[in-house]
Amino acid sequence: MKKSSSLILGIVLMLAVFLTACGTSEETGSETEANNEGETKTLRIVTDAAYAPMEYQDKGEVVGFDIDFIKAVAKEAGYAVEVEHVGWDPIFVEIESKRADLAVSSITITDERKQSYDFSNPYFQSTNKILVQEGSDIQSAEDLKGKKVAVQNGTTGQMAMDALLGKNHSDIKKFEDNNLAIMEMESGGADAVVADNMIVEEYAKNNPDKNLKVVEDATFDSEYYGILFPKDSELVEEINTAINAVLDNGTYSEIYQKWFGIEPNIEVLKE
Ligand code: ARG
Repeated sequence: MKKSSSLILGIVLMLAVFLTACGTSEETGSETEANNEGETKTLRIVTDAAYAPMEYQDKGEVVGFDIDFIKAVAKEAGYAVEVEHVGWDPIFVEIESKRADLAVSSITITDERKQSYDFSNPYFQSTNKILVQEGSDIQSAEDLKGKKVAVQNGTTGQMAMDALLGKNHSDIKKFEDNNLAIMEMESGGADAVVADNMIVEEYAKNNPDKNLKVVEDATFDSEYYGILFPKDSELVEEINTAINAVLDNGTYSEIYQKWFGIEPNIEVLKE
């Protein structure tokens, strides 16, 4: 008798403890403030890791300049990170639905995107460039008229081609991933790829056997990358402060040198 009653008491006690624990975790879950108990909040970060050297996959891990950069910024702001490759179009869905806290993916700050999302301050300067086969007669953007151009769908490369050749022109071949656009040119389906300078330059350099060259054109705008947030995200200010710190304390330069072997022009980001 004694044994079974103490067993029941034990079960009741365990249940009570269990239910209290449930209640507590629900409470913390519904709170919006992070770090309130000294624990590090983990930011869910999404990217399209098919844009080397900015973001790509290496042995199942997402790596690249952007990844080192956001890790340094998050650390500075006191957050842990979890970076997930979701693909380009899904980035915008994940951010709009607030399933992710932020996205880092060589995302150019544009007026159009600013209507639906928030951006951090600029952290990287870039411009579109043209990737062609070595013997190509394409020497400028103007020469792309009448040629087939492969771009990643929904990028500033596509926007530049829409402006040059006409929106939805059949000569613009759109791909969901930039590597697929490059493969299209290599297999003869397109005469050129238009994408961000760092990406096409790195690709041409790393694939000398493919005999590719990069054509630049001054009519392509100077662009700036920003971290993408859901509209009115409370993180924007904190992250901007952390970006400034990382730019000023030498961490940004270190990461830039690691990936590109040269000193960055930090002043241009602060204008
Ligand atoms: N900078 C360009 C844009 O914002 C292209 C970015 C593509 N990024 C990527 N990870 N595929 O439209």
